[in-house]
Amino acid sequence: MSLSFAITGKGGVGKTTVSSLIVRQLIANGLTPVLAIDADPNSCLDAALGIEAVSTVGRAREEVRQEAQAGTVTGISKQEMLQLKISESLVESAGFDLISMGRPEGAGCYCYANNILKSIIMQISGQYPYLVLDNEAGLENLSRRIMQQVDVLVIVSDASNAGLQTVVRLHGLADEMEIRYKKLVIIVNRLRSGTLPGRIEEIKEATGAELVIGLPDDLEVASFSENNRSFLGLSDDNPVVVKIDRMLKDINQ
Ligand SMILES: Nc1ncnc2c1ncn2[C@@H]1O[C@H](COP(=O)(O)OP(=O)(O)O)[C@@H](O)[C@H]1O
Ligand SMILES: [Mg+2]
Repeated sequence: MSLSFAITGKGGVGKTTVSSLIVRQLIANGLTPVLAIDADPNSCLDAALGIEAVSTVGRAREEVRQEAQAGTVTGISKQEMLQLKISESLVESAGFDLISMGRPEGAGCYCYANNILKSIIMQISGQYPYLVLDNEAGLENLSRRIMQQVDVLVIVSDASNAGLQTVVRLHGLADEMEIRYKKLVIIVNRLRSGTLPGRIEEIKEATGAELVIGLPDDLEVASFSENNRSFLGLSDDNPVVVKIDRMLKDINQ
């Protein structure tokens, strides 16, 4: 079996939290090895997973560019060098590995470089049966087509009307960009009332979402985040953990 997830949504809605909990529950269910991809330069999936990413794909690319310019790359092609540096930036942990995309550093985004990058990322991710891609706000990374095809597209939102409107917009954008997915899951995060907003049925219908999940605003999650503790350490009976676990089981049905 194999399963890939791309998590998207507005900034601050809980993408990284959800991504790390999907990683947690894949591991808890013995669905390993997982490759976690941090595609948001402004957030830290590594910290949420209790590890530290020391380098990024963006930095690897910039280093290779500089070394090629200085003429210090010898006996090895630029592509091989990039491949090597990117594999070095992979952090290995129990049940999962993590790769951070970082920012595109240095001079502009050359199509050629991006194509090489894409093929290296595809090659690395092809070695893992389980993938979790934590995106930056919007669909920028998906639009760079790092991963054009996923099994499950997860759109995270808050419960506000504006938030839910963004879900519809992101869904439309994903279709426009021809991002292919087998299942769409909408997560309404940080619910205080305990119930999903009234508009949710309409949103579910408009987007064709397979599943809609509400996650409570949880004190333990908030406190882990405030104390920079890994979400892998949350208790098994934490209500958010339980819901994500249920979601994985429903997806697998
Ligand atoms: N269900 C939840 N309960 C309590 N706090 C949450 C919950 N989901 C997310 N948070 C907190 O909200 C903040 C933003 O979440 P984060 O996952 O970093 O969002 P994003 O990746 O979308 O920017 C973090 O401090 C996180 O701990
Ligand atoms: Mg994030």
